[in-house]
Amino acid sequence: MITEKEFQFLIEKERKIIDAKLKKVLVKRKPRSLYEPSNYILANQGKRLRPILVLLSAKAVGGQYAKAYNAALAVEMLHNFTLVHDDIMDNADKRRNKLTVHVKYDVNTAILAGDSLLAVAYEYLLKGLVVPGNKVVTYFTKGLVEVCEGQSLDKEYELKKSISINEYITMITKKTAAMAEMCCAIGAQIGGGSSSEINALSLYGKNLGIAFQIQDDLLDITGDEPSFGKKIGGDLIEGKKTFLFVKAMETAKGLEKALLKKIIVNKGIKQGDVAFYKNLYQKLGVLDDARKEIMKYTLKALRQLIQIKNENDKAVFTLLAHSLIKRTT
Ligand code: IPE
Ligand code: IPE
Ligand code: MG
Ligand code: MG
Ligand code: MG
Repeated sequence: MITEKEFQFLIEKERKIIDAKLKKVLVKRKPRSLYEPSNYILANQGKRLRPILVLLSAKAVGGQYAKAYNAALAVEMLHNFTLVHDDIMDNADKRRNKLTVHVKYDVNTAILAGDSLLAVAYEYLLKGLVVPGNKVVTYFTKGLVEVCEGQSLDKEYELKKSISINEYITMITKKTAAMAEMCCAIGAQIGGGSSSEINALSLYGKNLGIAFQIQDDLLDITGDEPSFGKKIGGDLIEGKKTFLFVKAMETAKGLEKALLKKIIVNKGIKQGDVAFYKNLYQKLGVLDDARKEIMKYTLKALRQLIQIKNENDKAVFTLLAHSLIKRTT
């Protein structure tokens, strides 16, 4: 059975292969005014989680990595497209420890860079299809539509006084989990999986994705900036309805509740108040609530692995889920 060390080695190796392949995608294309900014985000160091999900899913159903690389590149490009547009929408100036595309260049350049990443993503997806392709394209398109819907809910919720945990889960299921689900479905489809295998891996990806976003919300306040690569407290500054905020609103009373409501009325807080609100979250116990919720969805993901026959592949997915719980980036 694969050990944790071997798992880390495997992931690192695939990450390097993905990075090397991504490097070549846009380098010769013209005009450079379009592809240089698109390549900037693509080349900046990301975790490459989504392409890794594609590759591991293909392998877990008896397929080969080699047949899934183009789809893996496609999902990473799709992801980078969402990041570039997300950073415009969230007024974020830092990602992967570098300036965001719209800050380094300008907003119009970033809109187009995102568009081009989406277009080239489709190009690679179609190029990679050696199995009946329509299902793969359908999963990809569904993932994309759901990200847009989720991102729209994210913006809509900024203006709402309060939302329920259910509304929050719906929003993150669309904006984040749908893509992880899509990656597993695409990989399993390319690998020639049965419908029950595709279904199980999709649900693994979906629940992993929900846990991943709650953890992103948690790291936004508890993280260490050089390692997380994004501005700490960014969600509070923007007045986002994160897991922490929604849970805090449920828990707080009196003055504390008033302080939370103020965030929404003022459409966010000042950078200087982040530490204060971090303390409040801590006092209300919502940081621990988030940790519990991350565990709950991770376990839900892991329960799907019963459908995976190969014990080694099962162990790889288990180690991946555990590594995400421990992540600081
Ligand atoms: C960021 O995704 C967007 C979210 C869904 C939280 P990642 O945390 O996977 O970002 P990179 O690709 O590693 O930079
Ligand atoms: C992002 O959610 C989801 C996307 C579709 C990109 P966030 O807005 O929390 O992602 P980060 O924290 O900026 O990476
Ligand atoms: Mg966002
Ligand atoms: Mg954001
Ligand atoms: Mg975030």
